[in-house]
Amino acid sequence: MNSSKSYGTFKDNTSYKAYQSTSAEVKDGYTVQQQLQYRKYLEKLKNEFDERWCEKSKSKMVFSELERVRTLGTGAFGRVVLLKHSKTNKYYAMKILEKEKIIKLKQVEHTLYEKQILEAIRFPFTVSMEFSFKDNSYIYFIMPFVPGGEMFSHLRKMGKFEEPIAKFYASQVVLALEYLHFCELVYRDLKPENILIDKNGYLKITDFGFCKKITGRTWTLCGTPEYLAPELILSKGYGFSVDWWSFGVLLYEMNAGYPPFYANDPMKTYEKIVSGKYRCPSNFNGDLRDLVRNTLQVDISKRFGVMKNGVLDFKNHKWFKGVEWEAILNCRWPPPFTPKFKHPGDTTNFERYDEEPILPSSYCRFESEFIDF
Ligand SMILES: Nc1ncnc2c1ncn2[C@@H]1O[C@H](COP(=O)(O)OP(=O)(O)OP(=O)(O)O)[C@@H](O)[C@H]1O
Ligand SMILES: [Mg+2]
Repeated sequence: MNSSKSYGTFKDNTSYKAYQSTSAEVKDGYTVQQQLQYRKYLEKLKNEFDERWCEKSKSKMVFSELERVRTLGTGAFGRVVLLKHSKTNKYYAMKILEKEKIIKLKQVEHTLYEKQILEAIRFPFTVSMEFSFKDNSYIYFIMPFVPGGEMFSHLRKMGKFEEPIAKFYASQVVLALEYLHFCELVYRDLKPENILIDKNGYLKITDFGFCKKITGRTWTLCGTPEYLAPELILSKGYGFSVDWWSFGVLLYEMNAGYPPFYANDPMKTYEKIVSGKYRCPSNFNGDLRDLVRNTLQVDISKRFGVMKNGVLDFKNHKWFKGVEWEAILNCRWPPPFTPKFKHPGDTTNFERYDEEPILPSSYCRFESEFIDF
């Protein structure tokens, strides 16, 4: 497949231009030259990110024109519901966060980051903010609706992913983490529940609730037990390395159908993670085993993603041989799986949840704590 044919915008109406390197197509791996060129493109994306980061968002949507359809997912702080815009008939996913719960769980700072980050990021494989609101009791983040459902549901349905599917998804996660880290963002919650499949079969990472802009190290214990990196569990200061560890867990889980470190008791899970011992199922070939070993590497100085070559260690690894990174980035690689849905607001790819009314209080709660929202 030729990855360097046409310019254009990404198919999902995002505003950035498709990336195209000027070097001749390289069949064997991703060259240092290509990576240097891609870096220039990332620098442009980072400048745009920085501009939006400093801007105050301007919400233009009229709240009363949004009809609530049904719940798509629930989490620790609220729920995500499908909305239909009564005038444009467009569908959106709205994350509703209850101020009181955010305060109780000491997540005000994380939620502010989530808002700022959602407003500033633009990448083909991440969701971003369309609008945000607040009322007396809740904070609302409105994003485009991603209709294919969670990677989690598809993975459980299929048992495990066939290698071409796992490779297709893994390559997008590599590119997304590379972008986020380039923007100095550590994501901290990579897992199949937070990865959605779009109508074109490509991924959209959602849930920036633990994502944070960092320049040095950070110490907060957050994430999901099975995906936590050893350095995070051991309360050592950590940086972007934790995302590459979670990527290793995801890589393993997509190919095996279950995560590498698991026990009923989270403390036992942590012990296993810190020991770094896991077993690969027999369907893992040599290249995959090698990639997993270098990613689920307890010693950070030897972990893929954070060594001298950075992301190039992934892009050039034998397991990714044949992946054309530019074609993936520009959504021109034929997806090995496309989710089924009948119309733009079809929710059959999402689980059913009990509905609860959203009843804002008659007076403004926690006004000062949420003044920056
Ligand atoms: N843009 C979207 N389009 C479709 N569904 C979405 C979208 N964003 C989120 N969801 C659904 O809602 C679920 C919960 O969203 P999210 O993970 O952001 O919430 P959370 O409260 O932070 O959950 P968690 O318990 O993981 O912290 C997701 O797993 C996904 O199923
Ligand atoms: Mg989530």
